[in-house]
Amino acid sequence: MNPTRPLASFALAALFVSSCGGPSQPSETSIAAAKEAARAAADRLGQELVAALGEALGKGGPVGAIEVCQLRAPQIAADVGAAGKVKIGRTALRVRNPANAPDAWERAGLESFAQARAGGADLSSWSATSVEATADGFQLRWLRPIVLQPACTVCHGEELAPELVAELAKRYPQDAATGFKPGELRGAFTATVQLDG
Ligand code: HEC
Repeated sequence: MNPTRPLASFALAALFVSSCGGPSQPSETSIAAAKEAARAAADRLGQELVAALGEALGKGGPVGAIEVCQLRAPQIAADVGAAGKVKIGRTALRVRNPANAPDAWERAGLESFAQARAGGADLSSWSATSVEATADGFQLRWLRPIVLQPACTVCHGEELAPELVAELAKRYPQDAATGFKPGELRGAFTATVQLDG
């Protein structure tokens, strides 16, 4: 099965609608460059988050690391995005921070990833893309699955330390991001890149 298929139809619809009198369509080259920029930004965000988490866990344990996650995650995402002119972040079907909740396109992508994962698919090379027309021209949307690793279960797993539960309840009263098993879909990196035309 082609992993990008469920979303490819959205991309076509967006292109079709915008072809009626809108700006000329973006070139394959600019789409390819935007995908590469999104991929690079997600790689960097992932690496920097893991490094920041590792350092914080070493210093203050999981309870201390929560604060680092809360404060640093959006900051790192903003820095990484600004460097590559990419809007980059993380989202999920079940979020800890409501600010990370998916929009309709992200939700559709996450649902297709989750379904594939539940069916045993290896998502390591998956991503979904869509080209959308906006008032400022075309933009590429890009989504890449994040599968839960064993190390993530400290804060997203089925059994959390009581002091961690207390801290999470304080900072994230609507936390829905626990109860995950390693190997399950945890969420996705999500990126938006403006296309040159
Ligand atoms: C020290 C505790 C901790 C660990 C360990 C941890 N996380 Fe998180 N995670 C958080 C916190 C806190 C947030 C909310 C960050 C925010 O406010 O944006 C979060 C948010 C997320 C989000 C964004 C969606 C949401 O729920 O808001 C994803 C995706 C995510 N984590 C995946 C992972 C993965 C994958 C790992 C393992 C590599 C991991 N986390 C390890 C604490 C942790």
